[in-house]
Amino acid sequence: MSRQALFKRRYRRDEEAIPFLLNGLPEIGRRGDTVMTAILSLGSSLRRTEFTGENRAGFCLIGACQDCFVMTADGSRVRACSTALKPGMAFFTTTMERVEHD
Ligand code: FES
Repeated sequence: MSRQALFKRRYRRDEEAIPFLLNGLPEIGRRGDTVMTAILSLGSSLRRTEFTGENRAGFCLIGACQDCFVMTADGSRVRACSTALKPGMAFFTTTMERVEHD
């Protein structure tokens, strides 16, 4: 598995910080992020598919394919590409390896 973040944040790097939990650890997204943007700016996948175990990171990015579901702390799931990140949200991935950015 790659240790690279899939998304590189190039804009809005100084926007308001939006705190959230990822795999029980505190993380920071930025105002305007989707759940997908926030998570894939930190790592390479959203989850593993329950069928083959492959890493998944979305496909269509427009809310149509349902490939980007991510588990929440309460056991529900959200469509990461079309869900706005809000303070206090909590997600679990099974594949995430956090990487550091400059
Ligand atoms: S990536 Fe297709 S619905 Fe989110």
